[in-house]
Amino acid sequence: MTPTEGEVRRRADRLRAEIRRHDHLYHVEDRPEISDGAYDRLFRELQAIEEAFPHLLTLDSPTQRVGADPLSELPVVPHVVPMLSLDSSESAEDLRRFDERVRKAVDGPVEYLVEPKLDGSSLEVVYVDGVLDRAVTRGNGVEGEGVTENARTIPSVPLRLRAGRDQLPIPSLLAVRGEVLMYLSSFEELNRGRVEAGLEPYANPRNAAAGALRQLDSRITRTRPLEFFAFDILDVTWADSGTEDGEASANEEAMGFDTDEEAVEALRGWGLRLPDRTRKVADIDDAIAYHAEFARDRDDLDYEIDGVVLKLNALAPRAALGSTSHHPRWAFAFKFAPRQEVTRLERITVQVGRTGKLTPLALLRPVEVGGVTVSRASLHNREELERKDVREGDLVRIQRAGDVIPQVVERVEEPGRQRSEPFRMPEACPRCGAAVVEKGPFVVCSNRLGCPAQLERGIEHFVSRGGLDIEGLGSETVALLVGEGLVREPADLFDLTPADLLKLDGFAETRSRKLVEAIQSAKKTQLARFIYGLGIPEVGATVARVLAAEFRDLAILREAAAERLEEVEGIGPIMSEKITEFFNDDARAASVDAILSKGFELVPPPERESRALEGKSFVFTGRLDSITRSEAKKRVESLGGRVVSSVSSATGYLVRGERPGSKAKKAEELDVPVLDEQAFLRLLEE
Ligand code: IVH
Repeated sequence: MTPTEGEVRRRADRLRAEIRRHDHLYHVEDRPEISDGAYDRLFRELQAIEEAFPHLLTLDSPTQRVGADPLSELPVVPHVVPMLSLDSSESAEDLRRFDERVRKAVDGPVEYLVEPKLDGSSLEVVYVDGVLDRAVTRGNGVEGEGVTENARTIPSVPLRLRAGRDQLPIPSLLAVRGEVLMYLSSFEELNRGRVEAGLEPYANPRNAAAGALRQLDSRITRTRPLEFFAFDILDVTWADSGTEDGEASANEEAMGFDTDEEAVEALRGWGLRLPDRTRKVADIDDAIAYHAEFARDRDDLDYEIDGVVLKLNALAPRAALGSTSHHPRWAFAFKFAPRQEVTRLERITVQVGRTGKLTPLALLRPVEVGGVTVSRASLHNREELERKDVREGDLVRIQRAGDVIPQVVERVEEPGRQRSEPFRMPEACPRCGAAVVEKGPFVVCSNRLGCPAQLERGIEHFVSRGGLDIEGLGSETVALLVGEGLVREPADLFDLTPADLLKLDGFAETRSRKLVEAIQSAKKTQLARFIYGLGIPEVGATVARVLAAEFRDLAILREAAAERLEEVEGIGPIMSEKITEFFNDDARAASVDAILSKGFELVPPPERESRALEGKSFVFTGRLDSITRSEAKKRVESLGGRVVSSVSSATGYLVRGERPGSKAKKAEELDVPVLDEQAFLRLLEE
């Protein structure tokens, strides 16, 4: 007998609940209950039902983690509340001072939650009525990039919240902050695969995670082993009850929790994964001991951490302590000192950078520094080299701090050992032989357009992840292309054919075809990426985005005078000079024209939403009829306004629904403008 539609629907619901439970057990709790085979059978059954009855498919179905069609660019999305960073230091003294400040401001005993500081990529995930609504990277803290489709593919990001522990209801809005990272073991496996496929390996797990998170094609993200750990509630709004006690907002008063411990336990109950080994301490010495413990275990963990984070456990005093524009005063990152090792400096060579700068580079006897083998370290410039007086053959102390290229910290004395002569920077460019010129502490190759090293570095930058983001075009391939004379200027890249590439070492048919395809499809790109890729001195990814948003058209930017550029927020006189200098240089202009003649489509960022309510705060009281509280909040925020939970003289408007509470009276006392529902809706329309 064929099942009725109702029966099929119930079966699909059952399967979803069952699969969600197993997903949670496997990815969050790390204690699977069934075999992979049994899981696959459930999954395939659900997929089959959803295929046969597409109208039964829901967006939060566990089958919907497979990735979606690629986007042409990531949208800019505002955060629910600004994502601040953390005050931080490596010194225990600074930590003690932080503790003293907190104790001064808080009555009674002080407790902190301490946890590892995960070294990944920050992410805000937002649930509306329990369903994943969006995911946003940190960006500039106020707005970030919308990476919802990518986040959906991360197994430890629930698509739907579980019913909370202890009857905790599902909030109407929940914004969670956490970290996306890659386990070291997964990272190494990923890199092994890339090297085998002839692709450039990622520098470190953090870059790999950040790159995967910002992919335009979520089907690629899905193939990357990403993990999500949640550690903070940015905002929570409980269901619209219309009563005063039904409202709470993290950025205002408490969130309905008394302590952070309760808040993160709620997150756990809703199905999110928290960092391991978090602890509660009442004494700053215990926090210091915790830090030492983690520093000791650091190399044994399967993920990178760069310190430990302390957070005041009680939430009410947090509000009193408040924040600076950068960081909250109730939290502190106690960082680890950079990892150092001592090794032999075997040789000093000189590298030529994108702008012709010559950088002395130390070639080292390979040494392991915190799990990474280091064989090269930067010596920065001529002056630094002289100051540190390191010479070939010396014993040196090197350090690796997070992302930064390893550095030579100092020479280690070896009394009685015969040292070599001091290193001299070359008088001619080691790549092209042209004369070098001294510019302050730097030595620069004068052959700006003819030096193959400058060309290679320039192309690498142009196609890098922040630029055109061309997969499969790493530094080795660029060197081959330039070396073989196939590419004499960046524009030549776009004339390459598979037949050209077949001549190169390591290029078979598929790889040649794929690279040409990747190069061709990069001609449609975000304006900001193109601007960044040009490699204008002083113009990094952020400035490039600012320029793209302001000018929206490359031709207009190229014509902009220095005074016009300086009108743009964040662009000062030095930067504006570098930009105009770049575009007014005939050779640069010709190179840009040549690139554009290959048929580029440069997409400007979406128009910014209206900020008509910028700076205005809204308080709601009573029941609204035609719009829910969370919808109203969203609308206000999309126009740049804020929703807060209590009335003060600074409140912009009180919105009064049916059966208002005491807030209405308070608003009248304080002369805060009061809107009824209709007036509020009209204001939104305007
Ligand atoms: S708490 C207001 N806890 O560190 C600050 N942050 O420098 C709330 N991070 O971008 C953040 N592990 O992404 C917190 N256990 C942890 C963390 C953590 C890593 C990151 C976070 C932020 C950066 C701050």
